[in-house]
Amino acid sequence: MAKLNPIDMAKYVSARRALDYVEDGMRVGLGTGSTAAWMVRCLGDMVREDGLRVTGVPTSTRTAELARQVGVPIAALEDVKWLDLTIDGADEFDDDLNLIKGGGGALLQEKIVATASDMMVVITDPAKHVDTLGAFPLPIEVIPFGWQTTKALIEESLVGMDVGGRGATLRLNRDAPFRTDEGNLILDLHLRRIGNPRQLSLVLNQIPGVVENGLFLDICDVVVVGAADGSVELR
Ligand code: 5RP
Repeated sequence: MAKLNPIDMAKYVSARRALDYVEDGMRVGLGTGSTAAWMVRCLGDMVREDGLRVTGVPTSTRTAELARQVGVPIAALEDVKWLDLTIDGADEFDDDLNLIKGGGGALLQEKIVATASDMMVVITDPAKHVDTLGAFPLPIEVIPFGWQTTKALIEESLVGMDVGGRGATLRLNRDAPFRTDEGNLILDLHLRRIGNPRQLSLVLNQIPGVVENGLFLDICDVVVVGAADGSVELR
């Protein structure tokens, strides 16, 4: 393998270490994002070179395509129903292993797949650790119908809440609204600090038009933190 730059090295070592949790015959949720892509490539190596038998359940069309390319057999969650393990990246994690996810726009499938798994292992680098969640804008998936009204309701719902900001922006992709695999939109909520993630998640998911938010609370079991020097820390 060619020499990796420090960022890719950290992603690679965390992905490689997380695959120690995979056993023969497992049904494995395959996350989305650049770190998860390393994991899928390494899993492909294990399938092709070591004869590992797994069934992967991708969390996005992007991940499904990569899994096919590298030879990881895949199935839909509808067919598998429950999973042994999910390995996925994150945008932020705190000391309680709560996460912000959805930077890649796949939070809905990621949350469904992780929740259907006996174990969720998150692969990250040290820069994603925070004392308090919220520096990374919180992604919220909303249906396109009436999205401006949904946005206003979201911003209004934050009045009096323990957060550091209230503005939401529509995520764009080359000047057009970004569309999720389900055809929905993403609003990025600029909170800076989330004092009470549990309350916020409940409030957001009660607003009509909100499909899901990017707070993953009590879902993650282990965070694998890879570093550019090749070392790995488990939390
Ligand atoms: C996609 C996600 C990703 O896991 C998250 O954005 C981290 O991505 P990366 O590994 O590229 O930093 O939640 O929806």
